Parts: sequence; structure tokens; C-alpha cells
Amino acid sequence: MPTFIVLLGPPGVGKGTQAKILAETLGLPHVSSGDLFRENIKNQTELGQLAQSFMNKGELVPDDVTIGMIRARLSLPDCRQGALLDGFPRTIPQAEALERLLAEFGGRVNHVPYITADESVLIARLTGRWTCRAHGHIFHEKNNPPKIPGICDLDGSELYQRDDDKNETVVRRIQVYFTQTAPLVEYYRKQGRLSEINGAQPIDSVTADLMAALKNK
Ligand code: AP5
Repeated sequence: MPTFIVLLGPPGVGKGTQAKILAETLGLPHVSSGDLFRENIKNQTELGQLAQSFMNKGELVPDDVTIGMIRARLSLPDCRQGALLDGFPRTIPQAEALERLLAEFGGRVNHVPYITADESVLIARLTGRWTCRAHGHIFHEKNNPPKIPGICDLDGSELYQRDDDKNETVVRRIQVYFTQTAPLVEYYRKQGRLSEINGAQPIDSVTADLMAALKNK
């Protein structure tokens, strides 16, 4: 039976940071909807152009487009044993579509770690984030700085600040999270699949709590 884990939580709480660590530890592919959209933007695809117009404003990309993109990704052979989903689902219709899709593959959402932190922590993390151009490795100018400013420790590529990490866009992304994505907390809690994780701790402690929660489920 494949294992599908959904990492839930507001923008900047550390989903991408933890997903990269957990994917390696658990041997599951990291499927990030935000990374897939950014790859399409980089490759100037039609999907990328459409997504960019929503992402730059801090709004969600329409469900049908997002679900189609995730369906294509989860259909690839590396997801047969499961996947670690980061940033998807983000609405109830996306969660329902995911259940139907995983049922086709003989799977379901097994665990939903929900990572939390106060809004002031989220804003400080997003506005100080630096991301690597080549592989999306994540740094923070204060909390997790690269050894050489502007250069990725892991692959030597350039670090950049995301367009949607500007202060006004960050505020909008957090509002959108609370109105459109937060209902998923109750949706998964009622199904007994949710574990709450304190994201306002050092990266290693969050990883340890996540691993413990996954073992318990
Ligand atoms: P997406 O790329 O998914 O962004 P997000 O959910 O807003 O999350 P982030 O990537 O900003 O944050 P994160 O939680 O991964 O934090 P990170 O680990 O980087 O989505 C972008 C956009 O795409 C959306 O706004 C939307 O337009 C569109 N989109 C994506 N999915 C969609 C969907 N399903 N439906 C519709 N539209 C969709 O960490 C942040 C910073 O904090 C880093 O600098 C890191 O080094 C630091 N940090 C992390 N953990 C810690 C810690 N424990 N202590 C101290 N610092 C830490």
C-alpha cells in the first residue's frame, strides 16, 4: 500500500524545509505544487504564465489547473510507493480531488502533519528567505544562513528572493491561507489523520516532532 503524506500549514511555516529532509529520510518523492508552478514559470509554459498572474498577487491558482498538474505529477512512476505532498491540497475541492485520484492508484492520504507558528514568525521567515536557483534549496538570512552570502552551500548556484516574498504579497498569502486553506485542518482532523506540530522551534526539533508523529500514526 503506498504512503501519501500531506504537509499542511501556513506560508513560511517550514513545509518546504521539512519536506526536503523527510523525503530523503523516508525515501518518498517531494511533490511541491509551488515548485511545480515555479518550474513552469522558468520554462515559460502556458501553465506557468497563467500561474504567475495569480502567484504574483498572492492568490491561489484555480483548482482545475492545479489539480490537473498534480494528477500528471502523481501519475509518474516514482510516486507508485507514495509521495510527500507540500502545498497541495489547499482547498476542500482539491482535497476531495486528491482522495479520488489516490483511490485510482490504490492509495489514500495516510498522515497530515499540520505545522503551526504565529503570523509574526511567518512574516519574518518569508521576508528573510533565500532560495537556490538550481534545486530550490532553502536558506534564511538569519535563521539558516548560507556559508557564503548569495551562494547555495549544497550546489554552488545563485540564491534569489522569491517575487511573492515581498511584504505586501506575504500579507495577502497569509490572508488567503486563513480563508481558503485553514478549513482543511478540520476536514483532516475529523478523519483522524491530523497531527499538530509546533513549527516555532529550531529546524531539527521540528523534524524530530514530525518523525515522532509519523511513527505514532
Ligand atoms: P508555495 O510555494 O507552496 O508557498 P507557501 O505554501 O506559501 O509556502 P512557502 O514555500 O512560502 O513556505 P514553506 O512553509 O515551504 O516555508 P519554507 O520551508 O520555505 O506556493 C506559492 C504560490 O503558488 C501560492 O501563493 C499560490 O499562488 C500557488 N500555489 C501553490 N500551491 C497551490 C495550490 N495547491 N493551489 C493553488 N495555488 C497554489 O521556510 C520559510 C523560511 O523559514 C526559509 O527561509 C527557511 O530557511 C526558514 N525556516 C524554516 N523552518 C524554520 C525553523 N524551524 N526555524 C527557523 N527558520 C526556519
